[in-house]
Amino acid sequence: MSKKIFVTKPFLPPLDEYVKILEKIWSSKNVTNNGPFHQKFELELAEYLDVEYVSLLNNATTALLVAIKALDLKGEIITTPYSFAATAHSIVWNGLKPVFVDTDSYAGNLNPVKVEAAINDKTGGIVAVHNYGIPGDVYALKNISKEYNLPIIYDAAPSMGVRFKGESIFSLGDLSIISFHATKVFTTLEGGAIISSSLEMKKKIDRFKNFAIIDQENISGLGINGKMNEAESALGLLQLKYIELNICKRNDIYDLYTKALKSNKNVRLLTFPKFLKYNYAYMPVFFNGGIVPRDKVYQALKEENIICRKYWYPLLTDHKFYKNSKINDLTNARKLSNSVLCLPIYPDLDKKNIDLIIHVIEKVLG
Ligand SMILES: Cc1ncc(COP(=O)(O)O)c(C=O)c1O
Repeated sequence: MSKKIFVTKPFLPPLDEYVKILEKIWSSKNVTNNGPFHQKFELELAEYLDVEYVSLLNNATTALLVAIKALDLKGEIITTPYSFAATAHSIVWNGLKPVFVDTDSYAGNLNPVKVEAAINDKTGGIVAVHNYGIPGDVYALKNISKEYNLPIIYDAAPSMGVRFKGESIFSLGDLSIISFHATKVFTTLEGGAIISSSLEMKKKIDRFKNFAIIDQENISGLGINGKMNEAESALGLLQLKYIELNICKRNDIYDLYTKALKSNKNVRLLTFPKFLKYNYAYMPVFFNGGIVPRDKVYQALKEENIICRKYWYPLLTDHKFYKNSKINDLTNARKLSNSVLCLPIYPDLDKKNIDLIIHVIEKVLG
């Protein structure tokens, strides 16, 4: 039996390059708490992302928790059902109430018309996602945010390197968060960050992630341990050398799939306008026939040891934990959820396997 192929595989730099850096950390004994690699990675990441301020955290879930706290959101928070559990969990974990609103029918981003219709006097903010790393109607959301005075946090977990109309995707919204989990385009094994646009906000975030410690004898309130350590920060610095090359390789793979599948009437693929520099974090395919052909293809690929993922099926609102939340009409999100399959995509996925995946899909769909 051939080796299993998963939907993604982390890119790791040459081990000897990392070991050289680890030796420095070992001899300095400076392993965490805003050490030199942490400071350097924050600066270099801000430069790469083309943003003002970066606060590194130990993962994006903590980043979401801290971002909500830092903006002091209250009441009901409008969010999407078409995402990873961490998006909604971060709202509930902060003692707030998620209100689930429908997405667009294209890539699964929040539908601004539905967002506006869901606003009431209890609404305290919006946690939107750049689904698959792709921005939705961000200008309409910005107008809503201004008009109703509602802060927006962008869960941009998979958006490393994405640019939109010449700007960093991370310059949108009040705060953005990113994930460096092993499933992401850019990994520090575990890790995340919050992107902010004022020094005052960065300092607030940095305090929250460090137990709200002011100095040796004072804390300012409730905080958490959300710090990234030196080994992860050093890996992040090293990974920055490879990110653009990895995005190019992903782009090539995305193009191979697209070329083969774009004329197939049974599926819909996402295409990107010139003004979007995408990172090809995902290769979603939407099956026009819905759940039946989608699941047939999933199963047929699984029999070949190719493990795809149905991101995002089921909807968050279909989990028992969220069933009794405030849920609006979710027609578009449900249609996407019932039809999506994300195919394997990572820099060293070889052409032989891509051809096999395409062949299996075509065989099942006839
Ligand atoms: C949309 C989204 N938000 C949040 C997270 C949580 O990130 P982390 O694993 O770094 O906590 C993930 C994925 O891992 C994600 O896909």
